[in-house]
Amino acid sequence: MTTWINVAKLEEFPADTRRIINVDGQAIIIFNLAGHFYAIEDRCSHDDSPLHEGELEGDEIICPWHGARFCLKTGEVTEPPAYEDIQTFPVRIENGLVQVKID
Ligand code: FES
Repeated sequence: MTTWINVAKLEEFPADTRRIINVDGQAIIIFNLAGHFYAIEDRCSHDDSPLHEGELEGDEIICPWHGARFCLKTGEVTEPPAYEDIQTFPVRIENGLVQVKID
């Protein structure tokens, strides 16, 4: 079943910050990049390590463990040692709330 999960009030989620939520045991990172929102799973496909402390470079996150990179928009891996893409989630603004869609 598809569900939209509330992440935060839009006014409390400033540009260039991130939030982490946990839905049924799955951690998801939501980013506000200059007013555009993206969500990815908090798991590097190289070694299943968390990505949430990774630095951003443009629209890519760099895994803090071994340096793999992923596109926040598509989940596509852009630099090894990871070779598998990661999951992304749709994000919307509804009634002043940032929401992420979980299937
Ligand atoms: S765990 Fe992310 S690059 Fe190794």
